[in-house]
Amino acid sequence: MRLEGQKVFVIGGSSGIGLETARLARDAGAEVFIGSRSQEKLDAAAADIGNSVRTIRLDVLSDDSLQAAFAASGTVDHVVFTPPGGTVGKIREIDTAAVLQGLDAKLVAAVRTAKYADIREGGSLTYITGQFARRPMPGIIMGAAVNAAIDAIGRGLAVELAPTRVNMISPGIIDTPLHARMPDEMREGMMKGAAARLPVGRVGRPEEIGMMAVQIMENEFMTGAIVEIDGGANVLM
Ligand SMILES: NC(=O)c1ccc[n+]([C@@H]2O[C@H](COP(=O)([O-])OP(=O)(O)OC[C@H]3O[C@@H](n4cnc5c(N)ncnc54)[C@H](OP(=O)(O)O)[C@@H]3O)[C@@H](O)[C@H]2O)c1
Repeated sequence: MRLEGQKVFVIGGSSGIGLETARLARDAGAEVFIGSRSQEKLDAAAADIGNSVRTIRLDVLSDDSLQAAFAASGTVDHVVFTPPGGTVGKIREIDTAAVLQGLDAKLVAAVRTAKYADIREGGSLTYITGQFARRPMPGIIMGAAVNAAIDAIGRGLAVELAPTRVNMISPGIIDTPLHARMPDEMREGMMKGAAARLPVGRVGRPEEIGMMAVQIMENEFMTGAIVEIDGGANVLM
């Protein structure tokens, strides 16, 4: 199998894009670790994927937690980073403390991960960023800024951490539990509206991002790339 004998650590692997990435990496033969804050969610994900997946409780907001997680996994071949961040709300309405929290949750966490991840030479680090980095919308400017900054940092890391490879996947709207906090009606409206606008006529599925994450692990000529998988959102006016 394509990832036989390789270790893959999916940070945020208990849900959505991370969960499907972990499943596909395991299907490709990898030994898979999934990490997130909730042991309950990790256990449910491991049971869903199959019990060969190992769970490590971690919080990307903590240096100590990430260091302990990589000490537990040992050197790995590939790391995928998926936790969300940014602050929802219009700039004149959100407070600056919330802005800082949103930066810490994904941007500083992404930097922390690059600092502590123990990846073998030629292995890979992949960040899940997002389409709003290039197509901002009112009320989610900080999420856009966080993703744009990670796209830039990741390209820098591709040079600084070489020969470790660093890439970004920038998804469009994907149907995952991330949107569960929205009221049902609002979420359904957003999903239907996006599906109607997109050339592919639907929103994305998390495994459609996971497929690319696994391909990046396998493709040793790939580094410094930002791959947009957004159902064609990037070609719309
Ligand atoms: N879904 C979309 O439409 C979409 C579109 C563009 C970009 N993205 C980006 O894609 C990424 C994945 O999104 P998703 O939709 O798969 O989200 P999701 O289903 O909510 O999954 C997020 C994962 O991150 C973990 N996590 C959250 N905070 C964490 C922390 N502090 N430390 C460790 N783990 C943490 C969660 O587990 P715990 O709660 O157990 O910690 C969960 O496993 C995000 O960065 C998101 O911004 C998503």
